Amino acid sequence: MFVEVAKTDEIATGGMKAYEVKGKEIVLCNYDGKIYAVSRRCGHTNAPLEMGTLEGYILTCPLHHSQFDITTGEILSGPVPADFGEEPIPESLMKYFQNVGMLLSKVKTYDLETYPVKVEGNSITVDMD
Ligand code: FES
Repeated sequence: MFVEVAKTDEIATGGMKAYEVKGKEIVLCNYDGKIYAVSRRCGHTNAPLEMGTLEGYILTCPLHHSQFDITTGEILSGPVPADFGEEPIPESLMKYFQNVGMLLSKVKTYDLETYPVKVEGNSITVDMD
């Protein structure tokens, strides 16, 4: 069943915005004037995706930079290890990052859920069932 989630003027072209609808968190994405709805939580470790970037149809997670196709929810590339460049890192902090990296390497990244969207007039409705 389609429910109204937003008005079209809430999401500029190239923009994203998070909503909670029927107990589910989603992000509406405006790709070239067409609206797509995907689950809000990253398929890796749940970062809020509206805080990432949207370039065309590619949504990049703000935390470890996995990339997803918003038209299908499919993961395009997985998490990227932190890059500290040439900056020296204190040994204790390095051990922490190595431990986090080891744990994250064992976490599977899932595709995002996608939801059907209809735009009627200035109303954006999403089928959340
Ligand atoms: S939480 Fe999104 S890539 Fe790790």
